[in-house]
Amino acid sequence: MGAPRLDKLSFQSRIGGKPQRYFDFSPGDLYPVTLPASNKKVFVVRDVRIVRLIMTDSRFSLASLNPSEDTVTGTGYQSSSGMLRQDVPHIRRIRHGMISHFSEQSVAPWRQEVEEAADDLISKLLDGHQPPDLNKRYFEPLIVRAVALSAGITEEESDKLYGFSNRVLVRVESADDRTRICAAWNELYEYSSKLIDRKLDGPDDRLLSRIFAEFKNTCLCREEIVAASGTILAGFYTPFGILSVCAVELFRHPAVVKACQNDPRLWERTVEELMRYKAHFNFFLPRVATVDVTVGQVTIRAGQVVLPSIHAAATDPNSFTSPSLFNIDRNRPRCNIVFGAGPHFCPGAALSRQWLQVGLERLFTTLPGLRLAKPYTDLQWEPGSISMPNEVPVAWDRDCTA
Ligand code: HEM
Repeated sequence: MGAPRLDKLSFQSRIGGKPQRYFDFSPGDLYPVTLPASNKKVFVVRDVRIVRLIMTDSRFSLASLNPSEDTVTGTGYQSSSGMLRQDVPHIRRIRHGMISHFSEQSVAPWRQEVEEAADDLISKLLDGHQPPDLNKRYFEPLIVRAVALSAGITEEESDKLYGFSNRVLVRVESADDRTRICAAWNELYEYSSKLIDRKLDGPDDRLLSRIFAEFKNTCLCREEIVAASGTILAGFYTPFGILSVCAVELFRHPAVVKACQNDPRLWERTVEELMRYKAHFNFFLPRVATVDVTVGQVTIRAGQVVLPSIHAAATDPNSFTSPSLFNIDRNRPRCNIVFGAGPHFCPGAALSRQWLQVGLERLFTTLPGLRLAKPYTDLQWEPGSISMPNEVPVAWDRDCTA
């Protein structure tokens, strides 16, 4: 009898955008799957303790991955100096100076401008025809504008960078995808290189000027600065898909929307619970074990590639009681694991939280009768490391807008 056939890792979702079954929580195990582009066997980790270990322990490496065999998304094809291809201690050196500029405190002053951008887009929705597609008319342009405001670039530049982001942060399904994705990274690096010069020559008080200056102070060489900046510029647009999934989920919880309308302070914990419950990546980047590592009953062998399931980590009953319930009243509402852990913890977490809170609050507060214009079950879910609806058509009651 031959060995059982392994599942091929799929970016398709199950019904309602649910990730594939092998991303579901399972205590203390490693689940073998093959990667679509290389057929390589890797192991999905579905227990939050092991997920955290892989993210935080230096025995697991990003730098030692083999891009032609181990790549799952275009992130794996960034320059070998890119942030997500570095291990400790080098990644600490890159992040050391710049990380404070991404803190909640540092990004707070831009909140009001993001609110104004949201209000402007909503007033355009009000003037237009129903049912608009919120993906195209609100979520996407809001994130493009929010990036422009915080980064200190024009909307046209932000649009251009968004285009690059869409070409580099893609799923990898065939070995042939590599040439196209590497070419896109190189174009992004060329573009960032000019942006870096401009911001170093004529700095402003926004994020890019600050972090490019920090990179320079940290004595990174030019190639390292361009590569690290490329990782950041590509990551900026990630909240678009997350915002879309959050909103669609909220349509299924009208009582929560009502509670947030009555007490706007609840938006913060509602966004956390939305990200924990549904609006997260299914998995993080793979890592390779550099030595044998034993955790509880599980041994990960040197050379094995492991793929941490973020979906499992966010729904692990050891961390979240009754994880399959959507519950904004959790004792510890913050769900940091959706932004990773350890030396690569997402620098964009505070910005993302701000944009998600503002984006949802303005939308659901200004348009109180807001609803999906087609049944939830008719939404089409795009494949991806987070599955999102391909359109979100909505309607509202014209006479009850705030
Ligand atoms: C809701 C939106 C976002 C989510 C869910 C998210 C999630 C993540 C996760 C899980 C990681 C760690 C990946 C790993 O270790 O395998 C990461 C890293 C990263 N993210 Fe985000 N991200 C978001 C928004 C952003 C934004 C707005 C930026 C823009 C600054 C950004 C920039 C980055 C960068 C540069 C890294 C690599 C950090 C490093 O290697 O040290 N992300 N993100």
